[in-house]
Amino acid sequence: MTKSQIWVSAFLVLFLALFLLSRLTKEEEVKENTLPVNPMPQTNISSENISVPDMIGRLGCKGCHGAELEGTRMGPQLTGLQQYWSRDELINYLRNPNSYMDKERFAKFKEQFPGVMMPSFNNVDVKDLGKIADYLLSLK
Ligand code: HEC
Repeated sequence: MTKSQIWVSAFLVLFLALFLLSRLTKEEEVKENTLPVNPMPQTNISSENISVPDMIGRLGCKGCHGAELEGTRMGPQLTGLQQYWSRDELINYLRNPNSYMDKERFAKFKEQFPGVMMPSFNNVDVKDLGKIADYLLSLK
C-alpha cells in the first residue's frame, strides 16, 4: 500500500467507527423512551364525586397492578388480599410500603418485580385510603 492508500483506509475506518457509535447512542435513546414510564401518582385528588375504582385509576395503581388489578410485570395482583391484610394494616401499608419490605412475602415481590417499588401514598386522605382498602379487601 502507498502512504496515501493507508491514509484513505485510516479515514474510512474512523468514519465507520463514528457512524457505528452514533447508531449505538441513537438506539440507546430509543430504548430510554420505550422504558415503562413510572406512572407518577396524582396524590391530591378529592374523592367527593368519584368512585373507588376511578380513584384507583387516577392514583396510577393500574399502571403497575393492571386494569383489572390482575397484576402485571410491574406489580402483583391485588385480589385475594383479605388473607394477608386487615383493613388497618392495609391502610398503613399504602401510606408507608417501605416499612413492610422485610416481610417474607415482600422478599418474593422484590425478586419478582426488580427495580419497581410500590410508591407510598401518604399524601392521600386517610379516608380515601380507607375506601380503597375496603374495596381491595372485597376483591376475591
Ligand atoms: C410503580 C408501580 C406501582 C404503583 C403505581 C402502585 N403499586 Fe402497589 N405495588 C407495586 C409493587 C412492585 C408491589 C410489590 C411490593 C414491592 O415490591 O414494593 C406492590 C404491592 C402492593 C400491595 C401489596 C400486595 C400484597 O399482595 O400484599 C398493595 C395492596 C398495593 N400494591 C396497592 C396499590 C394501590 C392501591 C396503588 C394505587 C393507590 C398502588 N399499589 C400503586 C407497584 C406499584
